[in-house]
Amino acid sequence: MIDRIVNAAPEPEEPQEVELEITLRPHDFKSYIGQERIKKNIQLAIDAAKKRGEPLDHVLLHGPPGLGKTTMASVIAHEMGAQVRVTSGPAIERPGDLASLLTNLSDGDILFIDEIHRLNRTVEEVLYSAMEDFKLDIMLGKGPSARSLRLDLPKFTIIGATTRTGELAAPLRDRFGMIHRLEFYKPDEIRQIIERAAKILKVKIDKPAATELAQRSRLTPRIANRLLKRVRDYADVNGDGIIDTKLSHQALDLLGIDEMGLDTTDLMLLAAIIENYNGGPVGVETLAAITAEERSTIEDFYEPYLLQIGLLERTPRGRKVTHKTYKHLGKNPPAASQQSSLL
Ligand code: ADE
Repeated sequence: MIDRIVNAAPEPEEPQEVELEITLRPHDFKSYIGQERIKKNIQLAIDAAKKRGEPLDHVLLHGPPGLGKTTMASVIAHEMGAQVRVTSGPAIERPGDLASLLTNLSDGDILFIDEIHRLNRTVEEVLYSAMEDFKLDIMLGKGPSARSLRLDLPKFTIIGATTRTGELAAPLRDRFGMIHRLEFYKPDEIRQIIERAAKILKVKIDKPAATELAQRSRLTPRIANRLLKRVRDYADVNGDGIIDTKLSHQALDLLGIDEMGLDTTDLMLLAAIIENYNGGPVGVETLAAITAEERSTIEDFYEPYLLQIGLLERTPRGRKVTHKTYKHLGKNPPAASQQSSLL
């Protein structure tokens, strides 16, 4: 899955991509496009915290990958004038790791924990009291001579990010004062993000081409920026300095991305549901088998966008395709009597 260009995950083994993402990342709410409701809510909480001279309440950001959870965390830190330390659930293996992270913070600092649903239980339990009353309860020694120690911690803010709130233990979720779900962006917001990125990268792209690129970016900034970079490569070799629709069309066709942002794997998946399972419903395990992917990859990377654009539907008995899917794939839907709910 790593080599899918429309994969919403960052590509950690491509340092250039990480660098690009950091270069293009907005630093403040003013330059952060989209997620208007979340920005308003968090801005209000920031203003109130500043007015009271208190740290910001803990924030949980969830939603599909690539929508800007990490970016939002760095913007929040910037707006608070705070330092941010970045870690992730799997990186904090033992309570001692968490203790050293927390005791090295200063008042007002932000600790960003990516993939917070992957914290292990023992670490999670230490985090509860740390988040609630800025105390760290640690055990010293083992057996009958073990003692517990309570340390005061600086007044910090946790920003947790996860693609799966459902996997977060309820006591942990309850300790976040703000919980926000990042939504897919509107096509016009993605276009603005592309135009902003093009300006930073000194790439000339006309508005129709930016609009076309936006349509194929799965409503996801990370993918939009990646596609812009690929189209820029194509334009550098085949173009004359400006990216227009003809050029972007050619480049995107070459990449195998269709006009809704689907790649060959998406199309194969949808076609298999239609051809082998009469349009569904099928279980997520079946989708994993069709694509030879992990179940979690289907749930995190394939499904959210297909559900969002109405090419897949979740039912109590599994996932099924819709009338729109048949149309998009140029296939005839089954007779109305069999599939009446689809029509
Ligand atoms: N780059 C990536 N995400 C962005 C956003 N939401 N606004 C502006 N630029 C971005």
